Amino acid sequence: MLVVRTIAELRTAIQENKSKQEKSTVGFVPTMGYLHEGHASLMRRAAAENEVSVLSIFVNPIQFGPNEDLDRYPRDEQRDLALAENCGIDIVFLPSVEMMYPQETKTKVVVAQMTASLCGASRPGHFDGVTTVVSKLFHMVQPDRAYFGMKDAQQVAVLQQMVYDLNMSVELVPCPIVREEDGLALSSRNVYLSEDERAQALVLSQSLQLVQEWLAVEPVLTTAALADRIRTYINGSPLAEIEYVEVVAFPSLQPLAASFPMSERNTDVLIALAVRFGTTRLIDNRLLQAVQ
Ligand code: PAJ
Repeated sequence: MLVVRTIAELRTAIQENKSKQEKSTVGFVPTMGYLHEGHASLMRRAAAENEVSVLSIFVNPIQFGPNEDLDRYPRDEQRDLALAENCGIDIVFLPSVEMMYPQETKTKVVVAQMTASLCGASRPGHFDGVTTVVSKLFHMVQPDRAYFGMKDAQQVAVLQQMVYDLNMSVELVPCPIVREEDGLALSSRNVYLSEDERAQALVLSQSLQLVQEWLAVEPVLTTAALADRIRTYINGSPLAEIEYVEVVAFPSLQPLAASFPMSERNTDVLIALAVRFGTTRLIDNRLLQAVQ
């Protein structure tokens, strides 16, 4: 596994790896590091499905708001490199902030509308930072496939839209959410949780699990009723502070009417949650397939 820190080294490394085989595809996994089994599932898949696999680790300052956790975002380069190697990654790109942003960027990639709701509502500018850095990384790596987790379902939808609108020649591969045994979705931010918060954080995955049971008994439950039940369940946990519970069409992220019965959904429906425990913000979601 090769570790590179400059864009020039990255380009050379990819070219050299590609030229080893006549027909080779590049699979890319962009991350912010502090890697866990969720990231590992993307890396293993990128390594298995492509001749050349590239991982980037970059805590992207322009996707953090002024009061967010940029300064305390967890980092562990040595552990990350060991996991990447174990997953079969060929090239790790570890740029500095100066390498990615030598001067204040005057060009931004902005996906409109879909970035204003859900996480975008409480994190203004966040998705502009994500689409801008992912575009830059796509230009540097020029991947055939890029792997993203459905843990960040809105990120997947927004990036799909960007790739479509800007005719980028990369295939986005959405990958399933990896969870702890008790159901908590893996996240680099889980390390911030106290013991009590960690125990109560299970209400996110539990409420999403219950959706299945509720719909089995009452398939005509409306958007509003479903969201209400989830809110009531989460509010049963005293440390949980709900930021949003939303039921929207996927991948458009268009809201569904409050009175819309779930049994009539003719598109996939995303149930997305953001809940704070103290200063830690957790997200989780579940995708319901279209029934018609
Ligand atoms: P980061 O939070 O490090 O996540 C990197 C990738 O891992 C994302 O595609 C994310 O959805 C995926 N991931 C995280 N937890 C997961 C889990 N439990 N199961 C499956 N996949 C999981 O997302 C980012 O970084 C950044 O916004 C980035 C795209 C790198 C741009 O800076």
